[in-house]
Amino acid sequence: MSASTAATPIGIHDLELATSHHAVDLGDLAHSNGTDPAKYRQGLGQDEFSFPAPDEDIITMGAAAALPIIERHGFDGIRTLLFATESGVDQSKAAGVSVQRLLGLPNHVRVVEFKQACYGGTAALQAAVGIVSRSPGERVLVISSDVARYLLDSPGEPTQGAGAVAMLIAANPALVEIEAAAGLFTDDVDDFWRPNDSTTAVVDGKLSVSAYLDALEGSWNDLQAQGGPGIDEIDRILYHQPFTKMAKKAQGHLAAVTGAPLSLALPGDAVDETQRDTGLATGTLYNRRLGNSYTASVFAGLAALLHHDADLAGRRIGLFSYGSGSVSEFLTGIVQAGYFDATAAERVYAALDARAPLAVEAYRELHSANLPSSEDYETPRVTAGPFRFAGVKGQARQYERTRD
Ligand code: COA
Repeated sequence: MSASTAATPIGIHDLELATSHHAVDLGDLAHSNGTDPAKYRQGLGQDEFSFPAPDEDIITMGAAAALPIIERHGFDGIRTLLFATESGVDQSKAAGVSVQRLLGLPNHVRVVEFKQACYGGTAALQAAVGIVSRSPGERVLVISSDVARYLLDSPGEPTQGAGAVAMLIAANPALVEIEAAAGLFTDDVDDFWRPNDSTTAVVDGKLSVSAYLDALEGSWNDLQAQGGPGIDEIDRILYHQPFTKMAKKAQGHLAAVTGAPLSLALPGDAVDETQRDTGLATGTLYNRRLGNSYTASVFAGLAALLHHDADLAGRRIGLFSYGSGSVSEFLTGIVQAGYFDATAAERVYAALDARAPLAVEAYRELHSANLPSSEDYETPRVTAGPFRFAGVKGQARQYERTRD
């Protein structure tokens, strides 16, 4: 790599979030199954979760997240589309290939799917940074999109969710420059996985929480070994959020590992003025209402931080990504001048508010429907989003744009 290429900042140039048509209120779920609602709202830090309509999936949400980015920037320089997901809809074809057609991207793009539970989006981001380092004139569209599904009446049920975040990775980015040093940690552990014949994840919840914290410590120690910034040089810290209380547990663990007095307050918690505010509460604002969006979760946290905190220019953000199984990464980035868009949060809240509430009985029916993936059928028209999954024809999934 030439010295001039190495000096070019590369990172997140634009970012958009999309979610599903429906939402389930966790107060309703608690009422129906006899749980104290405080367990969900304070114990897990979740208020609602998004749930897809029958004509929605990772592809319709991913394309919906990417559409405004394409409308703002066009196709210029985009020669790669990386689609990260845990909830893939085909064993062979990359979900991004359908997105290429739905968005009208040129044929001259490479498209591939990334999988490693909730970590895949971060792997795709780093691969995109690598591609742009090699060819700074290129831009890479990275889409993280997931539907988090656990068994009905299981401990994981209130931590379901659905959402997608699309990012445009480019040289001289408008939002966040990704720094070179990153902390990595891989450990073969059976905390969460999804067998090929199962539509819901198999999870050992307690093990996944401790594996997450071990991975955080391992990634952090590797970041330090790689010459990355110390805790006092990082202004804001974001975490993967399977449920937002997990970010608080992670922050507590990092505070213990580093000895730094990091604030542990989530929204509604008492604030200890002697502790340093690193944006923990701000980073949870969207995830409390989206639920778990697996690969998109940490980037939904990033969106919330960039949309609500107007004082970040020149500041360093740390971002911890964890994918059960497990692979994790602690990376850092520098927020760029002019990043703040005062209307961005309004757009996300409008999308969250626009979700159609789903009563518990209707949600349980949809959850149990388990539509076949290799028999032909048509889906009902439900989604109000720009793309829909029309059904299966000749054993192939069919997608269409709902409006021009
Ligand atoms: N009011 C307030 N808080 C309450 C409460 C109440 N009435 N009842 C329970 N709580 C708290 C508990 O004290 C606990 O808090 P803590 O974790 O700070 O100790 C929290 O609510 C959860 O309660 P717990 O009994 O541990 O929940 P659970 O056994 O139902 O399962 C998970 C929690 C996270 C293990 C489960 O939701 C799960 O498996 N999720 C999917 C996997 C996952 O997200 N893993 C994360 C890492 S990837």
